[in-house]
Amino acid sequence: MLKIAFDENLTIEIFNSNVQDLYDEWAAPIVIVSDGAYGVSGFPGDLPTHEGLDEWYEPHIKAWSKKATPQTTLWFWNTEIGWATVHPVLIKYGWEYKACHIWDKGIAHIAGNSNTRSLRQLPIVTEICAQYIKKAYFQIGDQQLAMQEWLRHEWERTGLPLYKTNEACGVKNAASRKYFTKDHLWYYPPPEAFEQIVNYANAFGNPAGRPYFSIDGKNSLAREEWEKYRAKFYCPVGVTNVWQESPVNGDERIKAGTKALHLNQKPLSLTELIISISSDKHDLIWEPFGGLCTTAVASYNLRRSCVAAETDRKIYQEAAKRLLSHSQQIRLF
Ligand SMILES: C[S@@+](CC[C@H](N)C(=O)[O-])C[C@H]1O[C@@H](n2cnc3c(N)ncnc32)[C@H](O)[C@@H]1O
Repeated sequence: MLKIAFDENLTIEIFNSNVQDLYDEWAAPIVIVSDGAYGVSGFPGDLPTHEGLDEWYEPHIKAWSKKATPQTTLWFWNTEIGWATVHPVLIKYGWEYKACHIWDKGIAHIAGNSNTRSLRQLPIVTEICAQYIKKAYFQIGDQQLAMQEWLRHEWERTGLPLYKTNEACGVKNAASRKYFTKDHLWYYPPPEAFEQIVNYANAFGNPAGRPYFSIDGKNSLAREEWEKYRAKFYCPVGVTNVWQESPVNGDERIKAGTKALHLNQKPLSLTELIISISSDKHDLIWEPFGGLCTTAVASYNLRRSCVAAETDRKIYQEAAKRLLSHSQQIRLF
């Protein structure tokens, strides 16, 4: 295991282990960057086709779901068909699909190695990075309610009519239309609106039912607690779901002689993008399938903590070398 510790709250750790043996020890992640099996025989243990990827990922997804919180974002890299195969498993374990990002590697990726006479499909120059968040559930008796249902459930308990949510928030109809609707146009109430709703419910709702919007039955959720019921996301300006970025090359590409050491090495730029838009400094990032541990390097650059695992001894050693020399060259602290 290699550990780079900046202080007790900021560490980068990479392990030469099967990640299945580590999940129980790892603290809750704010971000998981999954770059595992693709069904392309990409590394020893990868499958030859997409068939079976759902079973390959299921124990991992189960473990992620156990440790993730509603603040967690999962970035799931794969081929199009690989992602389609695994998507139902992610849904089964409580992950909510947000968006699909397409890494367009450009024509240079296939230049000179595409024989159009023999190809029976167009050359593929893309990978997928799908974004999921961990759904928040609220336990009411033996029932698990999704956030949208729980908000309505709590307001209904007050005995107040629904339109009063607008008065609570000081708006004309936005609260009843957005935060308390039953349909798909539902929005998460921002913390300030949530606080107003809670205060109103406790002040004017049926006294017998107080406190409202509480988890423990003793106190209503405070605004800071409510903020933790949503995955972090900082939307950058001018970035869309299509990422035009050439495959890793030049100094960034880790090589064994003249050849790439790991075919799946991801660009630091894209890895930094997904981490920075879904976490804050000091947050914990998981990299369950390390390879050359690009996520650990990106976490270092962005001052996030990271835990990464790689089973292959040789690849692990290269990743450790990479991280050490990177941290010596780029001193952030
Ligand atoms: C697609 S590569 C990751 C490449 C990485 N994102 C990078 O930029 O270098 C997947 C890696 O996961 C490793 N791996 C597969 N199953 C694993 C497991 N159960 N625990 C730890 N590592 C695993 C493989 O050995 C392989 O190197």
